[in-house]
Amino acid sequence: MANDLLTYESLRLALGGRPFRFLHRTGSTNDIARDWTDAPSGAVVVTEEQTAGRGRFGRSWIAPSGSALLFSVVLRPKVDAVQLTRLTMVGALAVAETLASLPAMAVDMVGLKWPNDVQIAGRKVAGILPELVWEGDTLSAAVLGIGVNVRTDFTGTPLEGRATSIERQVGAAVDRADLLGKLLVRIDHWAARVEEASLVAAWRAWLTTIGQRVNVRTMGETEEEIEGTADDVDDDGALILRLDDGTTRRIVAGEVTTQGE
Ligand code: BTN
Repeated sequence: MANDLLTYESLRLALGGRPFRFLHRTGSTNDIARDWTDAPSGAVVVTEEQTAGRGRFGRSWIAPSGSALLFSVVLRPKVDAVQLTRLTMVGALAVAETLASLPAMAVDMVGLKWPNDVQIAGRKVAGILPELVWEGDTLSAAVLGIGVNVRTDFTGTPLEGRATSIERQVGAAVDRADLLGKLLVRIDHWAARVEEASLVAAWRAWLTTIGQRVNVRTMGETEEEIEGTADDVDDDGALILRLDDGTTRRIVAGEVTTQGE
């Protein structure tokens, strides 16, 4: 597929008047966004390649140069009470809606695996990493880091069969600057509604995990593997898991594996 090298000019064209920083190579766009102290809400940091890209739970996020869309948006939520789970919803929902709107994409191929994996045909195509930036007790910014596999080839890698890329799924070239422009419109939309119930309802509607038999590895204070059926999510985005003995567990952070994965 086409190799649409990102340039300052192509990004300026796609992003209009939105403030952005473009780096050919950097450690992590989340770090650049964190350090951009006078960035207005909605400003974005984009790169072709990360040398220290990170994912959830301290994992690294690796994408060969030119193969993915790697960016971080600076948000300045009005409330200190904004939660990471809410920001995750903003990112995951914006990506799902944008991918589903691509001309060559069948809408029912796109879904979300709880809490933040955007999938096409059950394979991960994008990940979301929100981080909060504090100045003392005051929230100074939220950084929403997003990595989208646009043409990454996972053949022969440990992720083969579990990860995919947009071009592989739609069989058509994707222009990353244009995709970024579209994504940011949806991020603006949902970031403005970060406190609203409509955000949770819209995010929930994309979750393919609900109703499935799953294994969950809980993360946080205690780490354990639990098997059950994903019954629902609650208003805070936690997963409600029904165990085989009929009891339910509320999972705040964890990693879900569905059968067949
Ligand atoms: C996940 O584990 O699913 C989240 C992956 C998030 C990766 C993106 S790429 C751009 C931004 N910069 C980073 O270092 N991570 C996020």
